[in-house]
Amino acid sequence: MRNRKIKLGVNLDHIAFIKKSRDTMYPNLADAVKITEEAGADSITIHLREDRRHIQDKDAIEIRECAKVLNFEMANTTEMIDFALKLKPDYCCIVPEKRDEKTTEGGLILPSTNTLKFKNFSDNIKKLSNEGIKVSLFIDPNIESVQVSKDLGADIVELHTGHYANEFNTINEFEMIDNITSSAEFADKLGLLVNAGHGLNYENLNQLCKIQSLNELNIGHSIISQAVFTGLKDAIKKIISIINNCD
Ligand code: PXP
Repeated sequence: MRNRKIKLGVNLDHIAFIKKSRDTMYPNLADAVKITEEAGADSITIHLREDRRHIQDKDAIEIRECAKVLNFEMANTTEMIDFALKLKPDYCCIVPEKRDEKTTEGGLILPSTNTLKFKNFSDNIKKLSNEGIKVSLFIDPNIESVQVSKDLGADIVELHTGHYANEFNTINEFEMIDNITSSAEFADKLGLLVNAGHGLNYENLNQLCKIQSLNELNIGHSIISQAVFTGLKDAIKKIISIINNCD
């Protein structure tokens, strides 16, 4: 039995994508936040990309005004750090970003210690921390990335589960789970909170939820896909029920 409940952050980017695709006022993002919270999600996640392909600046501000807990994903750029300092989300998750990718394809490539890049990165984390924003780094599940995240001053690591999701139901699935488990245990020992996300869905969640040190899962695409058929509230309730009954 788990001794702590795994939280759920729901990523609303795909709802913003529908809005952006026609530049309409709908679907209403404040309604999406309300339904998501009422369904039992612990936080709202959005990713303001440099190319603004889904969430727009004004969407982020609207969502900040109504979300109880906001996790703001962004690249480590001056523009985004400045935006986050004004937005004041509860959490900032720093992610790598490539223009031509469909979605975030891997974890951050973290700088080596004693380099200028390391100092700049750690200074940016400090700027956010000084405003009371908890900082999370989206990393591939390996020990070195966890250690560098700690050295950089992060509060949280979000382990990239995309490779696990891609290898689910193949012979490599167990190796992927082992990598996530050992990284999670190591991060927990270092005093970091451990989140995970990417590519998680109603089928592949179960294995992951057995990891004791897991604090929160961030899930977007599969929930919004399910919501097309059953509505957002039921789609979220269904995934929470899987998370809570994984033992
Ligand atoms: N966590 C992070 C850091 C992400 O970048 C994403 C995708 O935006 C997610 C979680 C959610 O991934 P998915 O939409 O595949 O559930």
